[in-house]
Amino acid sequence: MKNKIGTLNALYPLPTVLVGTVINGKPNYITMAHVGVLKANIVCMGMAKVHFSGHGIIENKTFSINVPSTKQTVVTDYCGVVSGKNTDKSELFTSFYGVMKTAPMIEEFAVNMECKLIDHLDYGSHDIFIGEIVNTFCDDSVLTDGQIDLKKIDPILFDMNTRKYWQLGDSYAKAWSIGKTHPKF
Ligand SMILES: Cc1cc2nc3c(=O)[nH]c(=O)nc-3n(C[C@H](O)[C@H](O)[C@H](O)COP(=O)(O)O)c2cc1C
Repeated sequence: MKNKIGTLNALYPLPTVLVGTVINGKPNYITMAHVGVLKANIVCMGMAKVHFSGHGIIENKTFSINVPSTKQTVVTDYCGVVSGKNTDKSELFTSFYGVMKTAPMIEEFAVNMECKLIDHLDYGSHDIFIGEIVNTFCDDSVLTDGQIDLKKIDPILFDMNTRKYWQLGDSYAKAWSIGKTHPKF
């Protein structure tokens, strides 16, 4: 039997990241899971206007996306329970910068992207920020044959409905390929 369960969003899990901004001359990091891919080099995110971080993005038109591993869950969650409005999060990490001096990235996280704001939509309680990836950085430790290896990143997956973190399983098939074994192909 199929259950009708209202308008629950069933797209989780989503990767959890820290988005970096500069506000009042200091880095600030916010935990974000509502981050999506519009096309390969274009990302979008829905950020509640009450948060501190939006001010930095609107002012500088830049932000960074930093991908933690499950080993970094405590500090990742911490950045999602305290606000830069009253807690200084700038000293939690070693920050580094790419070409844009207002998109601080986290040295301790294996994958980092510096992004340029290209669009901003007003969604009432939320800002929708659309950004273009300007540069991506990654540690040797997460590369296999020159490619980012998801297993090595060990990203934090988040389910908003249960408010729980999950861990990645194994790859089991090749995309644009396994479908060709369908009898109708
Ligand atoms: C796992 C997790 C995911 C979150 N995802 C989002 C999100 O996608 N959008 C958002 O506006 N807030 C999100 N938050 C809430 C903010 O991270 C949190 O309110 C944070 O303290 C705001 O920091 P700031 O005021 O320094 O910007 C998330 C929090 C957690 C713990």
